[in-house]
Amino acid sequence: MDDLKNKYLGLIADAGDEATLEDLRVQAVGKKGEISLQMRELGKMTPEERQIAGPALNALKDEINSALAAKKAALGDAALDERLRSEWLDVTLPARDRRVGTIHPVSQVWEECTTIFADMGFAVAEGPQIDSDWYNFDALNIPGHHPARAEMDTFYMHRAEGDNRPPHVLRTHTSPVQIRHMEKHGAPTRIICPGRVYRADYDQTHTPMFHQVEGLAIDKDISMANLKWVLEEFFTAYFGTTVKTRFRASHFPFTEPSAEVDIQCSFEGGTVKVGEGDDWLEVLGSGMVHPKVLQAGGIDPALWQGFAFGMGIDRIAMLKYGIPDLRAFFDSDLRWLRHYGFAGLAVPTIRGGV
Ligand code: PHE
Repeated sequence: MDDLKNKYLGLIADAGDEATLEDLRVQAVGKKGEISLQMRELGKMTPEERQIAGPALNALKDEINSALAAKKAALGDAALDERLRSEWLDVTLPARDRRVGTIHPVSQVWEECTTIFADMGFAVAEGPQIDSDWYNFDALNIPGHHPARAEMDTFYMHRAEGDNRPPHVLRTHTSPVQIRHMEKHGAPTRIICPGRVYRADYDQTHTPMFHQVEGLAIDKDISMANLKWVLEEFFTAYFGTTVKTRFRASHFPFTEPSAEVDIQCSFEGGTVKVGEGDDWLEVLGSGMVHPKVLQAGGIDPALWQGFAFGMGIDRIAMLKYGIPDLRAFFDSDLRWLRHYGFAGLAVPTIRGGV
Protein backbone atom coordinates (compact mmCIF):
# COMPACT_ATOMS: atom_id res chain seq x y z
CA MET A 1 0.00 0.00 0.00
CA ASP A 2 2.91 2.27 0.67
CA ASP A 3 4.11 1.62 -2.87
CA LEU A 4 0.75 2.74 -4.18
CA LYS A 5 0.87 5.85 -2.03
CA ASN A 6 4.41 6.80 -3.08
CA LYS A 7 3.65 6.12 -6.73
CA TYR A 8 0.58 8.38 -6.87
CA LEU A 9 1.88 11.17 -4.66
CA GLY A 10 5.00 11.26 -6.83
CA LEU A 11 3.02 11.31 -10.06
CA ILE A 12 0.71 14.01 -8.74
CA ALA A 13 3.63 16.18 -7.67
CA ASP A 14 5.13 15.87 -11.16
CA ALA A 15 1.89 16.54 -13.08
CA GLY A 16 2.37 19.58 -15.34
CA ASP A 17 -1.26 20.35 -16.22
CA GLU A 18 -4.84 19.68 -15.27
CA ALA A 19 -5.40 17.02 -17.96
CA THR A 20 -2.58 14.86 -16.57
CA LEU A 21 -4.01 15.34 -13.11
CA GLU A 22 -7.41 14.16 -14.26
CA ASP A 23 -5.87 11.02 -15.81
CA LEU A 24 -4.14 10.28 -12.53
CA ARG A 25 -7.38 10.72 -10.63
CA VAL A 26 -9.11 8.18 -12.86
CA GLN A 27 -6.20 5.76 -12.59
CA ALA A 28 -6.01 5.96 -8.77
CA VAL A 29 -9.43 6.67 -7.31
CA GLY A 30 -11.73 6.40 -10.35
CA LYS A 31 -14.41 3.70 -10.39
CA LYS A 32 -12.00 1.24 -11.95
CA GLY A 33 -8.89 2.81 -10.44
CA GLU A 34 -6.25 0.88 -8.54
CA ILE A 35 -7.53 1.83 -5.09
CA SER A 36 -11.13 1.00 -5.97
CA LEU A 37 -10.01 -2.39 -7.23
CA GLN A 38 -8.20 -3.02 -3.96
CA MET A 39 -11.32 -2.00 -2.04
CA ARG A 40 -13.22 -4.65 -3.92
CA GLU A 41 -10.76 -7.18 -2.57
CA LEU A 42 -11.84 -6.34 1.00
CA GLY A 43 -14.77 -8.72 0.67
CA LYS A 44 -12.44 -11.65 0.29
CA MET A 45 -10.53 -10.85 3.46
CA THR A 46 -11.05 -12.14 6.95
CA PRO A 47 -12.78 -9.71 9.31
CA GLU A 48 -9.48 -9.07 11.10
CA GLU A 49 -7.62 -8.30 7.92
CA ARG A 50 -10.48 -6.14 6.73
CA GLN A 51 -10.43 -4.07 9.90
CA ILE A 52 -6.89 -3.02 9.17
CA ALA A 53 -6.98 -2.81 5.38
CA GLY A 54 -10.35 -0.98 5.13
CA PRO A 55 -9.46 2.16 7.09
CA ALA A 56 -5.98 2.20 5.55
CA LEU A 57 -7.40 2.17 2.01
CA ASN A 58 -9.90 4.90 2.89
CA ALA A 59 -7.15 6.99 4.39
CA LEU A 60 -5.04 6.48 1.26
CA LYS A 61 -7.98 7.47 -0.94
CA ASP A 62 -8.48 10.64 1.10
CA GLU A 63 -4.81 11.47 0.95
CA ILE A 64 -4.67 11.07 -2.82
CA ASN A 65 -7.83 13.13 -3.25
CA SER A 66 -6.43 15.99 -1.21
CA ALA A 67 -3.10 15.79 -3.03
CA LEU A 68 -5.06 16.03 -6.30
CA ALA A 69 -7.05 19.03 -5.04
CA ALA A 70 -3.95 20.83 -3.76
CA LYS A 71 -2.08 20.26 -6.99
CA LYS A 72 -5.09 21.42 -9.01
CA ALA A 73 -5.22 24.66 -7.05
CA ALA A 74 -1.48 25.14 -7.45
CA LEU A 75 -1.71 24.61 -11.21
CA GLY A 76 -4.60 27.10 -11.40
CA ASP A 77 -2.59 29.73 -9.54
CA ALA A 78 0.36 29.19 -11.82
CA ALA A 79 -1.84 29.60 -14.91
CA LEU A 80 -3.26 32.86 -13.53
CA ASP A 81 0.23 34.11 -12.70
CA GLU A 82 1.30 33.35 -16.23
CA ARG A 83 -1.68 35.20 -17.69
CA LEU A 84 -1.07 38.20 -15.48
CA ARG A 85 2.52 38.25 -16.61
CA SER A 86 1.82 37.93 -20.32
CA GLU A 87 -1.27 40.16 -20.51
CA TRP A 88 0.27 43.03 -18.65
CA LEU A 89 -1.19 46.37 -19.63
CA ASP A 90 0.65 49.65 -19.32
CA VAL A 91 -2.09 52.02 -18.20
CA THR A 92 0.35 54.91 -18.10
CA LEU A 93 0.50 55.04 -21.92
CA PRO A 94 -0.82 58.46 -23.08
CA ALA A 95 -4.24 58.43 -24.80
CA ARG A 96 -4.33 58.71 -28.59
CA ASP A 97 -5.50 61.98 -30.13
CA ARG A 98 -9.12 61.75 -31.12
CA ARG A 99 -10.23 64.21 -33.74
CA VAL A 100 -13.91 64.89 -34.07
CA GLY A 101 -15.32 66.63 -37.12
CA THR A 102 -18.23 69.02 -37.27
CA ILE A 103 -20.48 70.16 -40.03
CA HIS A 104 -19.34 73.29 -41.85
CA PRO A 105 -21.74 76.24 -41.39
CA VAL A 106 -22.21 76.47 -45.16
CA SER A 107 -23.20 72.80 -45.37
CA GLN A 108 -25.49 73.23 -42.42
CA VAL A 109 -27.25 76.25 -43.95
CA TRP A 110 -27.41 74.47 -47.33
CA GLU A 111 -29.30 71.67 -45.52
CA GLU A 112 -31.53 74.12 -43.69
CA CYS A 113 -32.48 75.82 -46.98
CA THR A 114 -33.21 72.49 -48.64
CA THR A 115 -35.43 71.39 -45.78
CA ILE A 116 -37.43 74.61 -45.56
CA PHE A 117 -38.03 74.87 -49.31
CA ALA A 118 -38.86 71.16 -49.47
CA ASP A 119 -41.63 71.86 -46.96
CA MET A 120 -43.02 74.35 -49.49
CA GLY A 121 -42.89 71.79 -52.30
CA PHE A 122 -39.58 72.73 -53.93
CA ALA A 123 -37.44 69.88 -55.27
CA VAL A 124 -33.66 70.15 -55.53
CA ALA A 125 -31.99 70.46 -58.96
CA GLU A 126 -28.29 70.55 -59.63
CA GLY A 127 -26.09 71.48 -62.56
CA PRO A 128 -22.43 71.57 -63.57
CA GLN A 129 -20.00 74.03 -62.01
CA ILE A 130 -18.21 74.37 -65.34
CA ASP A 131 -20.81 75.41 -67.88
CA SER A 132 -20.90 76.82 -71.38
CA ASP A 133 -21.22 80.58 -71.71
CA TRP A 134 -24.50 79.87 -73.44
CA TYR A 135 -26.10 78.41 -70.29
CA ASN A 136 -24.38 80.86 -67.97
CA PHE A 137 -25.10 84.00 -70.03
CA ASP A 138 -26.88 83.84 -73.41
CA ALA A 139 -29.79 81.64 -72.36
CA LEU A 140 -30.31 83.99 -69.44
CA ASN A 141 -30.65 86.95 -71.79
CA ILE A 142 -27.27 88.36 -70.79
CA PRO A 143 -26.01 90.00 -74.00
CA GLY A 144 -22.49 89.66 -75.36
CA HIS A 145 -21.38 93.12 -74.24
CA HIS A 146 -22.67 92.77 -70.66
CA PRO A 147 -19.98 93.65 -68.07
CA ALA A 148 -20.65 90.39 -66.16
CA ARG A 149 -19.13 88.56 -69.11
CA ALA A 150 -15.82 90.40 -68.82
CA GLU A 151 -12.80 88.35 -67.87
CA MET A 152 -12.34 90.73 -64.98
CA ASP A 153 -15.39 89.22 -63.29
CA THR A 154 -15.63 85.73 -64.73
CA PHE A 155 -13.26 82.77 -64.75
CA TYR A 156 -13.02 81.44 -68.30
CA MET A 157 -11.67 77.95 -68.94
CA HIS A 158 -8.36 77.89 -70.73
CA ARG A 159 -8.49 76.68 -74.33
CA ALA A 160 -5.51 75.26 -76.14
CA GLU A 161 -4.76 76.85 -79.47
CA GLY A 162 -6.95 75.33 -82.18
CA ASP A 163 -9.54 74.14 -79.65
CA ASN A 164 -12.68 75.69 -81.06
CA ARG A 165 -15.27 74.42 -78.63
CA PRO A 166 -17.58 77.16 -77.34
CA PRO A 167 -16.21 79.06 -74.34
CA HIS A 168 -16.80 77.53 -70.90
CA VAL A 169 -16.82 79.36 -67.60
CA LEU A 170 -16.88 78.56 -63.92
CA ARG A 171 -20.55 79.38 -63.48
CA THR A 172 -20.98 82.85 -62.02
CA HIS A 173 -24.40 82.07 -60.55
CA THR A 174 -26.80 79.14 -60.11
CA SER A 175 -29.22 80.57 -62.71
CA PRO A 176 -27.95 78.33 -65.57
CA VAL A 177 -29.49 75.41 -63.64
CA GLN A 178 -32.88 77.06 -64.31
CA ILE A 179 -32.36 76.62 -68.06
CA ARG A 180 -31.11 73.04 -67.80
CA HIS A 181 -34.04 72.13 -65.59
CA MET A 182 -36.64 73.76 -67.88
CA GLU A 183 -35.17 71.99 -70.90
CA LYS A 184 -35.41 68.65 -69.18
CA HIS A 185 -38.63 68.89 -67.19
CA GLY A 186 -40.74 71.66 -68.77
CA ALA A 187 -43.55 73.36 -66.87
CA PRO A 188 -45.05 73.50 -64.30
CA THR A 189 -42.08 73.22 -61.96
CA ARG A 190 -40.89 74.24 -58.53
CA ILE A 191 -37.19 73.81 -57.71
CA ILE A 192 -34.30 75.19 -55.77
CA CYS A 193 -30.70 74.82 -56.95
CA PRO A 194 -28.10 75.11 -54.24
CA GLY A 195 -24.51 75.15 -55.41
CA ARG A 196 -21.06 76.63 -55.72
CA VAL A 197 -20.48 79.66 -57.91
CA TYR A 198 -17.35 81.57 -58.90
CA ARG A 199 -16.40 85.19 -59.46
CA ALA A 200 -13.08 87.00 -59.61
CA ASP A 201 -13.56 88.90 -56.36
CA TYR A 202 -11.91 88.89 -52.94
CA ASP A 203 -12.52 91.05 -49.88
CA GLN A 204 -14.30 90.91 -46.52
CA THR A 205 -17.66 90.15 -48.12
CA HIS A 206 -16.54 88.43 -51.35
CA THR A 207 -14.63 85.22 -52.03
CA PRO A 208 -13.80 83.80 -55.50
CA MET A 209 -15.96 80.77 -54.71
CA PHE A 210 -19.18 81.12 -52.79
CA HIS A 211 -22.59 79.47 -52.59
CA GLN A 212 -25.99 80.39 -53.89
CA VAL A 213 -29.41 78.89 -53.74
CA GLU A 214 -31.55 79.57 -56.77
CA GLY A 215 -35.32 79.31 -56.67
CA LEU A 216 -37.64 78.78 -59.63
CA ALA A 217 -41.41 78.34 -59.70
CA ILE A 218 -43.30 78.17 -62.99
CA ASP A 219 -47.01 77.72 -63.41
CA LYS A 220 -50.03 79.30 -65.15
CA ASP A 221 -50.64 82.12 -62.67
CA ILE A 222 -47.53 82.54 -60.52
CA SER A 223 -47.01 86.15 -59.46
CA MET A 224 -44.68 88.40 -57.44
CA ALA A 225 -47.12 87.92 -54.54
CA ASN A 226 -46.26 84.21 -54.47
CA LEU A 227 -42.57 85.16 -54.53
CA LYS A 228 -42.99 87.47 -51.57
CA TRP A 229 -44.92 84.89 -49.58
CA VAL A 230 -42.38 82.14 -50.26
CA LEU A 231 -39.45 84.36 -49.28
CA GLU A 232 -41.07 85.65 -46.09
CA GLU A 233 -42.04 82.11 -45.13
CA PHE A 234 -38.48 81.02 -45.79
CA PHE A 235 -36.78 83.77 -43.79
CA THR A 236 -39.16 83.37 -40.87
CA ALA A 237 -38.47 79.64 -40.71
CA TYR A 238 -34.75 80.11 -41.26
CA PHE A 239 -34.17 82.83 -38.67
CA GLY A 240 -36.80 81.46 -36.29
CA THR A 241 -38.52 84.84 -35.99
CA THR A 242 -40.93 86.80 -38.14
CA VAL A 243 -38.88 88.61 -40.80
CA LYS A 244 -40.28 91.40 -42.94
CA THR A 245 -38.97 91.83 -46.47
CA ARG A 246 -38.61 94.91 -48.63
CA PHE A 247 -38.66 94.68 -52.41
CA ARG A 248 -36.65 97.31 -54.30
CA ALA A 249 -37.04 97.66 -58.05
CA SER A 250 -33.88 96.52 -59.77
CA HIS A 251 -32.60 95.09 -63.01
CA PHE A 252 -31.48 91.62 -64.05
CA PRO A 253 -31.40 90.63 -67.71
CA PHE A 254 -33.19 87.35 -66.87
CA THR A 255 -36.15 88.74 -64.92
CA GLU A 256 -38.80 91.34 -65.68
CA PRO A 257 -39.80 92.99 -63.44
CA SER A 258 -36.82 92.53 -61.14
CA ALA A 259 -36.44 93.22 -57.46
CA GLU A 260 -33.68 93.15 -54.93
CA VAL A 261 -34.95 91.88 -51.62
CA ASP A 262 -33.89 93.24 -48.24
CA ILE A 263 -34.70 91.77 -44.86
CA GLN A 264 -35.55 93.75 -41.76
CA CYS A 265 -32.71 94.09 -39.25
CA SER A 266 -31.01 96.27 -36.67
CA PHE A 267 -27.31 97.19 -36.50
CA GLU A 268 -26.78 97.89 -32.82
CA GLY A 269 -23.51 97.58 -30.96
CA GLY A 270 -21.77 96.37 -34.08
CA THR A 271 -23.94 93.29 -34.51
CA VAL A 272 -26.69 92.61 -37.01
CA LYS A 273 -29.98 91.32 -35.66
CA VAL A 274 -32.46 90.03 -38.20
CA GLY A 275 -36.19 90.43 -37.70
CA GLU A 276 -36.07 93.59 -35.58
CA GLY A 277 -35.24 97.31 -35.96
CA ASP A 278 -35.64 99.80 -38.80
CA ASP A 279 -32.72 98.89 -41.01
CA TRP A 280 -32.63 96.72 -44.09
CA LEU A 281 -30.07 94.30 -45.45
CA GLU A 282 -29.93 93.13 -49.04
CA VAL A 283 -29.94 89.35 -49.29
CA LEU A 284 -31.05 88.35 -52.77
CA GLY A 285 -32.04 89.18 -56.33
CA SER A 286 -35.33 88.09 -57.79
CA GLY A 287 -38.08 88.75 -60.30
CA MET A 288 -40.50 87.28 -62.79
CA VAL A 289 -38.69 85.03 -65.25
CA HIS A 290 -38.08 86.94 -68.51
CA PRO A 291 -40.07 85.52 -71.47
CA LYS A 292 -36.83 85.09 -73.42
CA VAL A 293 -35.45 82.92 -70.61
CA LEU A 294 -38.57 80.72 -70.62
CA GLN A 295 -38.15 80.41 -74.37
CA ALA A 296 -34.48 79.48 -74.05
CA GLY A 297 -35.57 76.74 -71.68
CA GLY A 298 -38.15 75.51 -74.21
CA ILE A 299 -41.20 76.78 -72.32
CA ASP A 300 -43.92 78.81 -74.06
CA PRO A 301 -44.11 82.24 -72.36
CA ALA A 302 -47.64 82.70 -73.72
CA LEU A 303 -48.82 79.82 -71.49
CA TRP A 304 -46.52 79.92 -68.50
CA GLN A 305 -44.95 82.40 -66.13
CA GLY A 306 -42.94 82.17 -63.00
CA PHE A 307 -40.63 83.73 -60.46
CA ALA A 308 -36.95 83.18 -59.79
CA PHE A 309 -34.59 84.25 -57.07
CA GLY A 310 -30.91 83.83 -56.23
CA MET A 311 -29.64 84.09 -52.67
CA GLY A 312 -26.15 83.87 -51.14
CA ILE A 313 -25.90 80.90 -48.78
CA ASP A 314 -22.69 82.17 -47.16
CA ARG A 315 -24.37 85.52 -46.67
CA ILE A 316 -27.35 84.19 -44.76
CA ALA A 317 -25.06 81.82 -42.81
CA MET A 318 -23.02 84.83 -41.65
CA LEU A 319 -26.20 86.59 -40.63
CA LYS A 320 -27.66 83.68 -38.69
CA TYR A 321 -24.47 82.70 -36.90
CA GLY A 322 -22.97 86.19 -36.49
CA ILE A 323 -19.82 85.61 -38.54
CA PRO A 324 -18.38 88.96 -39.70
CA ASP A 325 -15.85 87.94 -42.38
CA LEU A 326 -16.81 85.70 -45.29
CA ARG A 327 -13.19 84.68 -45.80
CA ALA A 328 -13.30 82.82 -42.47
CA PHE A 329 -15.43 80.13 -44.14
CA PHE A 330 -12.59 79.15 -46.40
CA ASP A 331 -9.68 79.79 -44.03
CA SER A 332 -7.43 76.87 -43.23
CA ASP A 333 -7.37 77.84 -39.56
CA LEU A 334 -10.64 76.44 -38.32
CA ARG A 335 -10.44 77.62 -34.73
CA TRP A 336 -12.94 80.31 -35.63
CA LEU A 337 -15.54 77.59 -36.23
CA ARG A 338 -15.40 76.65 -32.57
CA HIS A 339 -15.62 80.30 -31.65
CA TYR A 340 -18.95 80.54 -33.45
CA GLY A 341 -20.35 77.46 -31.81
CA PHE A 342 -19.51 74.87 -34.46
CA ALA A 343 -17.38 73.03 -31.94
CA GLY A 344 -15.62 69.78 -32.43
CA LEU A 345 -13.29 70.13 -35.38
CA ALA A 346 -10.30 69.43 -33.18
CA VAL A 347 -11.40 68.68 -29.63
CA PRO A 348 -8.79 68.92 -26.90
CA THR A 349 -7.25 65.60 -25.99
CA ILE A 350 -7.15 64.13 -22.50
CA ARG A 351 -3.53 65.17 -22.39
CA GLY A 352 -4.53 68.75 -23.04
CA GLY A 353 -6.50 68.43 -19.81
CA VAL A 354 -9.32 70.68 -21.00
N1 PHE B 1 -28.36 85.24 -60.64
C1 PHE B 1 -28.46 86.47 -59.90
C2 PHE B 1 -27.13 86.78 -59.25
O1 PHE B 1 -26.30 85.92 -59.16
C3 PHE B 1 -29.50 86.37 -58.82
C4 PHE B 1 -30.89 86.22 -59.37
C5 PHE B 1 -31.39 84.98 -59.57
C6 PHE B 1 -31.65 87.33 -59.66
C7 PHE B 1 -32.67 84.80 -60.09
C8 PHE B 1 -32.92 87.19 -60.15
C9 PHE B 1 -33.44 85.93 -60.36
O2 PHE B 1 -26.88 87.87 -58.82
